[in-house]
Amino acid sequence: EKSGYEYFMLKEIAEQPHAVAETLLGRLNEHGDLMLDEVRLTDQDLRDVDKVFIVACGTAYHSGMVAKYAIEHWTRIPCEVELASEFRYRDPVLDRSTLVVAISQSGETMDTLMALRHAKEQKARVLAICNTNGSTIPRESDAVLYTHAGPEIAVASTKAFLTQLVACYLVGLHLAQVRGVKYADEVAAVVAQLQEMPGKVEQVLDMMEPIRLLARELAEAKSVLFIGRHVSYPVALEGALKLKELAYMHAEGFAAGELKHGPIALIDHGTPVVCVVPSPRGRGVLHDKVVSNIQEVRARGARTIVIAEEGDTAVAPYADHLFYVPVTPTLLAPLVTTVPLQVLACEIASARGHDVDQPRNLAKSVTVE
Ligand code: BG6
Repeated sequence: EKSGYEYFMLKEIAEQPHAVAETLLGRLNEHGDLMLDEVRLTDQDLRDVDKVFIVACGTAYHSGMVAKYAIEHWTRIPCEVELASEFRYRDPVLDRSTLVVAISQSGETMDTLMALRHAKEQKARVLAICNTNGSTIPRESDAVLYTHAGPEIAVASTKAFLTQLVACYLVGLHLAQVRGVKYADEVAAVVAQLQEMPGKVEQVLDMMEPIRLLARELAEAKSVLFIGRHVSYPVALEGALKLKELAYMHAEGFAAGELKHGPIALIDHGTPVVCVVPSPRGRGVLHDKVVSNIQEVRARGARTIVIAEEGDTAVAPYADHLFYVPVTPTLLAPLVTTVPLQVLACEIASARGHDVDQPRNLAKSVTVE
């Protein structure tokens, strides 16, 4: 069943190009129009949306954090992301023009289900992004966009995460299209660029050997920090979550700009800091800011492990270890930058002798609140 892989997780990491391609399949026609057949909300319903809330847990929550940047940028609709377990207890402001997007691999997570039910009671429209056909969350939603990752066996989510990102992009692009947008050209370009993502994920997978070697060196580290900005901030959180789940190591993700307001005090001689660097093209200002954040941590003794875009030479002098990912539009970059962090966590856990597929204390789907 593991098709020659040592763990399901490694198999599922390797399946990501296919999972991304499957999730895109049939959703874009030859004119670049998005076809979301499973979405049973009318275009008018979507035009009436004046606020989006995304609710999810764990890894799915991180995909929602990425979605916020894309949805607000493409649609200009305010979008908030919230941990499903917090959502209903703070009495959020919802009505029939609110779209609540519930993201769940299993479709059975009780926290997410309860958030969804709360949203429906308040008359909000609910769209589920889910990997499991016919599970409870999509059954109770007004509309569904299924991710086509295939069954995910390893407890730590990998291919489901990448397909959740794709589904979120599709929802954002679809909302932008039906509403008529400011960034019509950009939206059309992104539709085309999404088609190239399976190939780019494949390229990243082909370059993972140096990450495996580094993982063995880091197996004894006490703590690993992850930093990123913009969409790389949720990627940093996801990298840290993977390491906690699998290696039982202290790991934390930070918005790189927030370091100076406290977390930089954690940096000690040799502290590994994984830095996810935005593309120097596009939002170039952000790139330069992250490069200075890297300089700052390095000046305080950090061992910097840098994930940057191919051709980004500006960051090289401050990287103790440098890993390049293919050139990718900023908002889509999490599809490639997350992959090395998955491999890193998996390999560190394996070097520490842990059962990668069945981490202690965790379940694949948590059906209690
Ligand atoms: C956790 C799983 O309990 O639930 C995580 O261990 C997962 O891996 C989270 O991200 C949310 O699960 P789901 O099925 O709602 O996406």
